[in-house]
Amino acid sequence: MASFKTQVGIVGAGPAGLMLSHLLHQHGISSIVLEAKSRTYCEERVRAGVLEHTSVEMLRIAGVAQRLEQEGLRHEGIELGLHGRLHRIPFVELTGKAVTIYGQQEVVKDLINRRLSDGGDLRFECGEVSLHDFDGTQPSIRVERRGTVDTIRCDFIAGCDGFHGVSRSSFPDGALTIYDHTYTFAWLGILAEAAPSREELVYMHHARGFALYSMRSPRVTRLYLQCKPNEDLAEWSNSRVWDELHTRLECSDGWYPTEGRILQKSVTGMRSFVAEPLQCGRLFLAGDAAHIVPPTGAKGMNLALADVHYLAEALRTLYSENSHKKLDSYSATCLRRIWKAQRFSSWMTSLLHRFEDATPFDRKRQEAELEYVMSSRAAATSLAENYVGLPLD
Ligand code: FAD
Ligand code: DHB
Repeated sequence: MASFKTQVGIVGAGPAGLMLSHLLHQHGISSIVLEAKSRTYCEERVRAGVLEHTSVEMLRIAGVAQRLEQEGLRHEGIELGLHGRLHRIPFVELTGKAVTIYGQQEVVKDLINRRLSDGGDLRFECGEVSLHDFDGTQPSIRVERRGTVDTIRCDFIAGCDGFHGVSRSSFPDGALTIYDHTYTFAWLGILAEAAPSREELVYMHHARGFALYSMRSPRVTRLYLQCKPNEDLAEWSNSRVWDELHTRLECSDGWYPTEGRILQKSVTGMRSFVAEPLQCGRLFLAGDAAHIVPPTGAKGMNLALADVHYLAEALRTLYSENSHKKLDSYSATCLRRIWKAQRFSSWMTSLLHRFEDATPFDRKRQEAELEYVMSSRAAATSLAENYVGLPLD
């Protein structure tokens, strides 16, 4: 049993926990990051792929965007599809900003490398983690690791441990208000060794269900198919996957996705979730620990980065200016952005998916809405400004 001391104890080494640790280090604030999984697991977990303009700027200013700037794919728009007809939403023309395609695990690799080269204290493969005394002035984290139980004493705890982590569930009963919506569909995600055959992402509405054409690199394509939440992957042979993608993505201009070896298939459930407030005494939640968006607007990782931008700045003003003001308003500041991202993500989801219980009227209204976004500069601008990322206040 050993005891350690740091200013901020961080639970979770996803984008939120790692970026927070890096930003705090830049402000001269110490932290210890505790992660349940191995380093390899964190670096290989395939998840989000779109970085908002706002996130790219944040990573650039924080000095961790060298590889992102070399390898990230800058996309100046996306395409929306209805009845096989595609319409481009030109982000740069409408907002002056673009997005960058760069896998979440690449962001995680860059942040881990940087923290380690800066002498950061990252502890992978932690066993049970429990949070204590965060309602007082001396919080601590107890962590099982390599057969011993260590205590981390800290000034603050940052709960960056994702949706299933221990931080949110450590709030006392009644301290959180939960806003939750679960969708009746999920996404079947496919990673394929195939050179992308289209320059930008294609979000396709189809009578058989939504399909998304995305990519990771000049050699890897990322694809998604709307499916059932309990979809059995055993029923999705590679040929069925490609047939369904060809059917749903079929375009009037003759384009179709290039096939290649399927590297990975997985099903991701979809929900909208917010836990308010993001603070209980000296415990602060950030990222998926506090909120989940359905993936259609590509906001999950971007919101996590925005939360820790605010948290790092609030802790900086506390330590360097002895001002509590930003820390006291951390939750409210984040929630304003979180709810805008919730609105956008649920709107994109309702715009593009097939809803089993939709009436014929609902279907016609949905198509009219998509037609409107595809034909109105005002509506397209609204989509574009949310997609590239609202400015940080
Ligand atoms: P996470 O990345 O979840 O990191 C939390 C970390 O905490 C994890 O490493 C976890 O192992 C660790 N942890 C958990 N419990 C403990 C504990 N008790 N002790 C110590 N460590 C713990 N978003 C998109 O925009 N597009 C997508 O396509 C997309 N696909 C997704 C697919 C899946 C399967 C999932 C789960 C999410 C997806 N997301 C997607 C969402 C996006 O990846 C998340 O919003 C993002 O990972 C949030 O970052 P985070 O750091 O808050 O949480
Ligand atoms: C990807 C994921 C998304 O949720 C999205 O809206 C766009 C792209 C992706 O994984 O590439």
